[in-house]
Amino acid sequence: MPDSITITDNRTGESFEVPIVDGGVDSAEWKNNLPGLWFNDPGYTTTSACLSSITEIKGDEGILRYRGYPIEQLAEQSTYLEVAYLLVNGELPDKGQYDQWVHDITHHTYTHENFRRRFVDGFHFNAHPMGMLTSSLAAMSTFYPEAKDIEDPANRMLQITRLIAKLPTLAAASYRFSIGMPYVFPENDLSFPHNFLSMMFKVAEDKYETDPAIVRALDILFILHADHEQNCSTTTARTVGSAHADPYSSVAAAAAALYGPRHGGANEAVLNMLDEIGTYDQVDDFIAGVKRGERRLMGFGHRVYKNFDPRATIIKNAADEVFKVTGSNPRLDIALKLEEAALNDEYFISRKLYPNVDFYSGLIYQSLGFPPEMFTVLFAIPRVSGWLAHWNEMLEHNSRITRPRQLYTGAAERPYVAIGDR
Ligand code: SDX
Repeated sequence: MPDSITITDNRTGESFEVPIVDGGVDSAEWKNNLPGLWFNDPGYTTTSACLSSITEIKGDEGILRYRGYPIEQLAEQSTYLEVAYLLVNGELPDKGQYDQWVHDITHHTYTHENFRRRFVDGFHFNAHPMGMLTSSLAAMSTFYPEAKDIEDPANRMLQITRLIAKLPTLAAASYRFSIGMPYVFPENDLSFPHNFLSMMFKVAEDKYETDPAIVRALDILFILHADHEQNCSTTTARTVGSAHADPYSSVAAAAAALYGPRHGGANEAVLNMLDEIGTYDQVDDFIAGVKRGERRLMGFGHRVYKNFDPRATIIKNAADEVFKVTGSNPRLDIALKLEEAALNDEYFISRKLYPNVDFYSGLIYQSLGFPPEMFTVLFAIPRVSGWLAHWNEMLEHNSRITRPRQLYTGAAERPYVAIGDR
């Protein structure tokens, strides 16, 4: 049997065959043979928006690979900075390339003093850190006007390096501002995750010290959150980038998408949900409310994974390592009971709803000392490398500007009526 489909227009009886390539069919044949007939797919549940070689997800099998490398192996053996290099460049670095990459990232962690003193300090005292981060990313485009030259690959790589390096600095500044603490400057002799923890939590000590298990757990969380193919925020980065906006504006738009509770805001929503449930014996009532459609079980379900999210499994193991150091999180028992109840309930089984990356990450972040309003910011720090890898790939492919069509269902033509006659 040929690897193709045949489409027949019953209005004319005419048929045309379309080959199946890389698991999809090209829309050009549809456009050429059925001009003016649009394929309606709100939410893009069945639509491929691009060709990409960055991340592969096999939802039914619970598979996630970055540039072909299984997420389980990267989480166990790699570092976030090495994974960021892999996502952006397509290959794992050799020792020399890795050392140069770490040097470059380490030496781009500072932000302009005017940015800190006049922009970050200008926020309202109770500004949400994710609102601050989203705004800060857009504001950074004004400090690097040369970033608009998106045709120059070397310039793109410089901006990519700057953004990956500065995300922790921006994130920590948002937090320190929100608690009225002075900013902590980056320290070049600390690893990427350790430096971030220092900028977040250092007080008066000369050096911020913490358990290596904590630093490693955070690096693993960064690896797991680095990319996830065409999720809502990455598709946003590609869409804004397709207009040839600069990378700071493109990732600012992506951060705005990630801010939504259906996407990156879910880890904060999970913790709020666990607090609302309150006690172990309230779990069954809560599940009953979900099944009545009164609310969603945050941290469960996924557009692509109709099996376990492999990241959730890895995060659950990382949580055990963190709790050995910090002591268990009292909400863990409620989360485990929720998971057990949902995994054995036909409502969730029939809808293929399993824990996703957000179900346990919030518990770890809270045990590491991060407040819930910082959780989505923690998601953005590594995801910027995924956003930028896709932004760069989109430009390398000379992609066309994103401009979908619609099916118009509004009023037919009608004459204007003066206000006195309405
Ligand atoms: C992330 O795309 C990515 O890759 C995102 C992400 C990444 O790394 O970038 O993986 C990160 O965003 C993970 C998802 C975090 N969000 C949440 O945990 C919020 C709770 N989950 C949902 O809102 C929902 O599952 C989505 C948004 C994640 C997926 O939504 P879909 O695919 O559009 O599913 P759907 O809304 O069509 O739901 C199908 C059915 C519906 O029931 P019926 O109308 O058929 O009766 O499942 C139900 C939904 O009501 N359902 C849920 C549910 N999620 C879906 N019911 C209860 N609780 C839930 N969480």
